[in-house]
Amino acid sequence: MGTAIACASLTDTPEQRRDLLLSVIEDYDRDRSNLIQVLHMAQAIYGHLPDEVLRTISAEMDLPFSEVSGVVSFYSYFTTKPRGRHTVQVCLGTACYVRGGKKVLDTLKELLGVDVGQTTPDNAFSLEVKRCIGACGLAPAVAIDGTVYRRVAPGRLKAILGKYE
Ligand code: FES
Repeated sequence: MGTAIACASLTDTPEQRRDLLLSVIEDYDRDRSNLIQVLHMAQAIYGHLPDEVLRTISAEMDLPFSEVSGVVSFYSYFTTKPRGRHTVQVCLGTACYVRGGKKVLDTLKELLGVDVGQTTPDNAFSLEVKRCIGACGLAPAVAIDGTVYRRVAPGRLKAILGKYE
């Protein structure tokens, strides 16, 4: 199992991506017990898991398409849609929830015009929810591309998002 996953930017053409996916499937012995690992690698290669990729995995691993797509929809870290350039994660863990995380989320939904799990039409932001992002003492917290904003008041969100547009 030695496939070195190249950065997606190094595998830009559809042919290169497909070749890499096929070598990953080969490295995982086309074994159904490795399906989740193969899906992880596929998402690393493509950035998301469109039907076409799931069909390739299904055919190459001799698994029903429904089984492959069922696994993808079960785990929230798999996505079938392209992500935005920036990922906004709102913490709804206990500490953040009780300190206004829900209001922060509602404000972000309004500002971005999307629901959780969606990406803005200009492909700038994807909105996600997390259980805890390690800043409980300074809740409510929001992370954008890994940068954590603490004690976020809904009124600050517009300015925070403005840094990323
Ligand atoms: S609960 Fe939100 S950072 Fe821990």
